[in-house]
Amino acid sequence: MTEQPQRLTIRRPDDWHLHIRTGAMLRAVLPLSARQLGRAIIMPNLVPPVTTTEKAMAYRAEIQEALGSDARFQPLMTAYMTDGTDPDDIERGFRDGVLTAVKLYPQNATTNSAAGVSDITKVYPVLERMQAIGMPLLMHGEVTDKTVDVFDREAVFVELVLRPLLDRFPTLKIVMEHITTEEGVAIVRQHGPSGRLAATITAHHLMINRSDIFAGGIRPHLYCLPIAKREKHRLALRRAATSGEPWFFLGTDSAPHPIGAKETACGCAGIFTAATAIELYAQVFDQEGALDKLEAFASLNGPRFYGLEPNPDTITLERSGQTVRDVLDVDGSAAVLPFLSGERLDWRMAGE
Ligand code: NCD
Ligand code: ZN
Repeated sequence: MTEQPQRLTIRRPDDWHLHIRTGAMLRAVLPLSARQLGRAIIMPNLVPPVTTTEKAMAYRAEIQEALGSDARFQPLMTAYMTDGTDPDDIERGFRDGVLTAVKLYPQNATTNSAAGVSDITKVYPVLERMQAIGMPLLMHGEVTDKTVDVFDREAVFVELVLRPLLDRFPTLKIVMEHITTEEGVAIVRQHGPSGRLAATITAHHLMINRSDIFAGGIRPHLYCLPIAKREKHRLALRRAATSGEPWFFLGTDSAPHPIGAKETACGCAGIFTAATAIELYAQVFDQEGALDKLEAFASLNGPRFYGLEPNPDTITLERSGQTVRDVLDVDGSAAVLPFLSGERLDWRMAGE
C-alpha cells in the first residue's frame, strides 16, 4: 500500500461560478473566498441584476472596496443577459476588461432570475456578437417549463436548448454551469475537445444526491438549483471531475442566503460552500484516489478554457482536517449556515 500524502501543494484555485451578493452579505462572505482563491467569476443575479457594463463596474468597485487595497483576489465580472441586452455594450465591456462573460438565466429558472431571457431567439444578436469576439456564454442549464419535472429540467435543456444552440453558433464558447446529470457530462465530453463547451461542477453535487435532501426530514440547507439528482448522476459527476479532462473545472455555486430565508415555508435555493470550498473538493478527490487530478480541476482547466494564465502562487492543503465552522454572522441580524457545518473534513488549507 502506498502511503497517504499528508500535504498537497497546488496552484492557487479559481472559482468559475460564485455568488457573493452585495452589502453586508458581501462583506461577510467575500473574505472566505478571497482567502482561498486567485479569481472568481462573480454571478450577476443581484436585486436588481447586473445587466450592463456600467453596473458591472459599480459592482466591481463595491467588491474591491470590501476587499481592501492589498487584496490579491481578482473578481471576474459577468453581465446578466436580458431580452434587451445591447450587443455594443457587452462588446465594450469585454474589450475594456470589465466583463469576462455573459450569464444567461432562462426566465424564472432560479433565485433572482425574473429578468432572465424569455426566449433564446431574442438574444441571437448578442450571441452572434459574443461568438465574433470570443466572449464566453455561461448558461444556467435548466428549462423552466413547469410541465417538465424538476429533476428532468437539465436533461431536457441539453436536448431542447443546448444542442440547437451548439448547431446555430458553432464557435461560441459556452460553459454549462453546475452540471448535475450524466446527460450534462455526456454533451460536455462530446463538444469539449473542440474547445467550445465546458462545465463547472459544484462540491455539493459531488457529495449529495436527491435522497440526502429528505434524509430523516426535509433539509432546506441542501436545496439548491439545479436540484441534486439520483445517485447514478452523482457518481457520473465524480468520475467527470476527477478524470482530469480539461473541459471540467471548479465552480462552487456557493450561494449564501440568510438562515431565515432557507428555513421557511418556501425556502430559497442555494448552498453556501465558500467557507471550505477547496477542502470539500479535496475530500472528494481523495475518496476517489485522484488527489493528483485536483490541481487540474481546481487551478488549470478553468484558466485554460478562459484563455488566462494559471495563478502564479500556490496553496497547501494539510490532512490535519477540520470541523466545518458554525454559522457565519452577517450583520448581527442575519446569519448563514455553511454546508456540512459541524461535520469533520479530512483536509484544511494551511494558513498564509
Ligand atoms: C443561486 C442563488 O441563490 O443565487 N441558487 C442556487 O441554488 N444555485 C442561483 C443559481 O445559481 O441558480
Ligand atoms: Zn449559481
